[in-house]
Amino acid sequence: MAVEPILVLGVAIAAVVAIGYFVFASFAFGAGYQPTPRRSVEAMLRLAEVGPQDTLYDLGAGTGAIVFRAARIYRARVVGVEVEPLRYAILRGRRASGPFADRITLRWGNFFALDFRGATVVTAFLWPGAMARLRPKLEAELPAGARVVSHCHEIPGWRPELYDPETDVYLYRRPHAAAVTPGGT
Ligand SMILES: C[S@@+](CC[C@H](N)C(=O)[O-])C[C@H]1O[C@@H](n2cnc3c(N)ncnc32)[C@H](O)[C@@H]1O
Repeated sequence: MAVEPILVLGVAIAAVVAIGYFVFASFAFGAGYQPTPRRSVEAMLRLAEVGPQDTLYDLGAGTGAIVFRAARIYRARVVGVEVEPLRYAILRGRRASGPFADRITLRWGNFFALDFRGATVVTAFLWPGAMARLRPKLEAELPAGARVVSHCHEIPGWRPELYDPETDVYLYRRPHAAAVTPGGT
């Protein structure tokens, strides 16, 4: 039995729209969807020396590449914030089906509305514009000694303590990180 070409076209268009939505819907908030590669996740957590004493905020948690590894392997308490509802549902499902749920707090919403004062480590893989908008908030709210690790994009005006070109990971540490350019504290 021949499949109607119009049906094939309809399915193809629906698939493209669905994938486009999943990847780009959150663009206006700060980034589309792209999971951090495993090597970079590992570098972020290792360079920031994440451990059981830490509370790690993953800004834009996606489907949990950082969240679950930080809780499971590095034993940190983790707060994952995600604005896109499908990814948030996936995060909830993964947390429910795995160990260490008690270490993981998930928030559905915009991380620009979140208070960062409880974080000792912040992880981010966001577009450059979001990194620029984050800077004053990080400077105002992060406690002394907190580390910020970013994949792919710098925090404009901050000098990284370390940059790993192999994994494209920047490590910053408060309060030194912000004390490098006019406007920094
Ligand atoms: C490039 S992905 C990184 C996902 C995850 N951190 C990882 O490493 O795999 C960026 C994520 O940030 C989310 N996002 C972007 N802007 C946001 C905002 N203002 N508040 C909460 N989530 C945001 C997007 O929906 C997307 O899932």
